[in-house]
Amino acid sequence: QAPEAVSPTGSPTGAPVNSRAQSGQYLTTAQGLRLGDTDHSLRAGARGPVLLQDHHLREKITHFDHERIPERVVHARGAGAHGVFRSYGTASKITKAGFLAADVETPVFVRFSTVLGSRGSADAVRDTRGFSTKFYTDEGTYDLVGNNIPVFFIQDGIKFPDVIHAAKPHPDREIPQAQSAHDTFWDFVSLHTEAQAHTLWNMSDRGIPRSYRTMEGFGVHTFRLVAADGSTTLVKFHWKPKQGVHSLVWEEAQIINGMDPDFHRRDLADAIESGAYPQWELGVQTFPDTEDQMFEGIDLLDPTKFVPEELAPVQPIGLMTLNANPTNYFAETEQVAFHPGHLVPGIDVTNDPLLQVRLFSYLDTQISRLGGPNFAQIPINRPQAPVNDMLRDGMHQTAVHGGVAPYRPNSLDGGCPFLAGQDVGAFVDVPEALAESIKERRNPASFDDHFSQARLFFRSMTPVEQDHIVQAYTFELGKCYEAAIRERQLMALANIDAGLCAAVAHGLGMPVPGATVQVPDSEPSPALSQIGGTWPAA
Ligand code: HEM
Repeated sequence: QAPEAVSPTGSPTGAPVNSRAQSGQYLTTAQGLRLGDTDHSLRAGARGPVLLQDHHLREKITHFDHERIPERVVHARGAGAHGVFRSYGTASKITKAGFLAADVETPVFVRFSTVLGSRGSADAVRDTRGFSTKFYTDEGTYDLVGNNIPVFFIQDGIKFPDVIHAAKPHPDREIPQAQSAHDTFWDFVSLHTEAQAHTLWNMSDRGIPRSYRTMEGFGVHTFRLVAADGSTTLVKFHWKPKQGVHSLVWEEAQIINGMDPDFHRRDLADAIESGAYPQWELGVQTFPDTEDQMFEGIDLLDPTKFVPEELAPVQPIGLMTLNANPTNYFAETEQVAFHPGHLVPGIDVTNDPLLQVRLFSYLDTQISRLGGPNFAQIPINRPQAPVNDMLRDGMHQTAVHGGVAPYRPNSLDGGCPFLAGQDVGAFVDVPEALAESIKERRNPASFDDHFSQARLFFRSMTPVEQDHIVQAYTFELGKCYEAAIRERQLMALANIDAGLCAAVAHGLGMPVPGATVQVPDSEPSPALSQIGGTWPAA
């Protein structure tokens, strides 16, 4: 049976979304003054001019002039929903996180997104999708800020501005990359071969999901779970949709983007409104927390790698049900602020160099996006655990703090706030020996293999899916003006799979380059042998 909606207001706390606004039945100013007319400005005579003294006009227009806030620097377009997460308790041996204990139910807010488009862009574009979940636990808010693709473009967060600059609309014409000039994106991924695996996932049907409800979600990075006895386990998080994983085909996506650019947000809201609540099972792949943090030859700190489920099965740990639409898009979906550093006792981060930079980036960007450091007070961002921080004042402060001593130790406020120490539900950093102490800028050698997982993914596809991948590369590279970039990308494909490279080169009407790394043979795929020689040029 589906759980009850979180609250009629859409607010996770059950409090009115904004109790100050919209109370009383008369139209008022922001100060509560009842108004008799809001349709005519105050003029010197019926034919004007308009008088500066019209305080209602000035308030109305001034507020309107400031209605917009900056959109997210990435993942600007999204759709959200409220729900509940019920834990199976199966993870309680490996984590002390209270919300993962048996039968605990936790309110959640989820925001799905595209990455590259602006707030007003279309839903069904070829892109990665964000899948962020805020768990309002009674030990503090935990955010799982994931994507629908288990690997990422880059290995080091210092490259994030570069990949986003390359993938966002061209600086001169502001034309989005999807379905237009693609030179900077393909320039970047062909020069940064670590991006090839993520790009191949984008070119597959995973890049055009049918619905947010039919997407998998991945935490991407390896995280560290901490049990009550202090033992640690490395994990990768997975969301598995009960609705199954389904994609659009490219022609459908093209038509949908033209006819209904809001296809995915409409689908999510309609499903919830009609009571067809979407569900995802949360699961973990677990790995021993060894000194080298490797598993079956895969460096668990390399975010461009996934661990095949044949090597580490996904073990279910709970079920999420989305059961309530937001009451107000701006208040909830737009103002929600996720952060991979929002952790609870029992869940910790690892030294993955991409994750480490994310830990800095989200709070930093939200300070400018949400207008100062107090956005945790916005209803959608308010924790459900008691908050007693020593943060004071600042832009948009709405709390009226009591007490006189926001520092500790103090002898004035009865010593409060107290520290929980190591054992009263506090977050305790896991002590970790550092392998090296040399300060340097370089990747470990275990990050060097950029092609084998792209190959594994491609060769695991059915012939029809491989066919779609060839079509996607051919279409997208066909929009790339620079021949040198297309050639370099074909060289990267040669290092992934000779058949894939040949089919795309054929489609582009270009010579087939040889591989520069050793590419193990595979059985010829029926899809590729059918494609050979018949693929239409872009
Ligand atoms: C949003 C930075 C990598 C998933 C964002 C935002 C920034 C950002 C600045 C906007 C946040 C806001 O305005 O509230 C970065 C950096 C990365 C990185 C610097 C690499 C160093 C990733 C990865 C994933 C990811 C690897 C997936 C595992 C998301 C999602 C959102 C987001 C889902 C949208 C959150 C929402 O719905 O509000 N990222 N990101 N990011 N990022 Fe990342």
